Amino acid sequence: PAVRPLIAGNWKMNGLKDSVAELDAMLKGAAELPQGIDLLVCPPATLVASFAARVAEAQAGKALPFSIGGQDCHANASGAHTGDIAAEMLADAGAAAIIVGHSERRADHAENDAIVRAKAQAVWRAGLVAIVCVGETQGERDAGHTLDVVAGMLAGSLPDGATAANLVVAYEPVWAIGTGRTPTAADVEEVHGFIRKTLSDRFGAAGETMRILYGGSVKPSNARELLAVPHVNGALIGGASLKASDFLAIAAGC
Ligand code: G3H
Repeated sequence: PAVRPLIAGNWKMNGLKDSVAELDAMLKGAAELPQGIDLLVCPPATLVASFAARVAEAQAGKALPFSIGGQDCHANASGAHTGDIAAEMLADAGAAAIIVGHSERRADHAENDAIVRAKAQAVWRAGLVAIVCVGETQGERDAGHTLDVVAGMLAGSLPDGATAANLVVAYEPVWAIGTGRTPTAADVEEVHGFIRKTLSDRFGAAGETMRILYGGSVKPSNARELLAVPHVNGALIGGASLKASDFLAIAAGC
């Protein structure tokens, strides 16, 4: 079945108030992209509310499939968790989706699959789309364990009740993130085909149309080839999503 592509940018810990100029350039360019591509930008939490308001302004009277997302959330809705942000707060600020289980969160904050699963449930509790990240390290790939690792992460990180509307899976090989190195198209096809089968086996028909994004060193020069791989339904872009021209060029490769 045809799956509508999603091009998502993860700004990570980058961006200040004046980055709104880049968002404005993205919104301008997005209006000229071919129809049928969803765009999402996940700025740092400090910018979610202002960016979401800006997007809403740009959308007035127009069909512009562009939304703003968060990069992480706490599993609880409120409470004594200094420095943390609830999914409900991101929803209140205007976010439409939240990334959970990014490898940087898993590594820097010791988040395991159970925590990621609880966060994905929190995202749904707030009525948003959960973008759940999975992917192997270099060592795991070298040892030939890629599919086992991905299977384990999917089983542990995805809650029951996933639908094509509330879940996006992002496959991000850890060794490809920010390194300029990407898997071959054949390697991406193998993993995405495996993820598709896993989703279909577990979630039935919904699993056929859930979006599976590729992430890791996606840039304008390799996007077209990666986005053409079967079961690659878009991209999760880090570094190249900070510049409107690169982000839009990647989306144009859909
Ligand atoms: O979430 C995005 C990924 O970690 C990819 O980052 O495009 O800078 O390699 P990158």
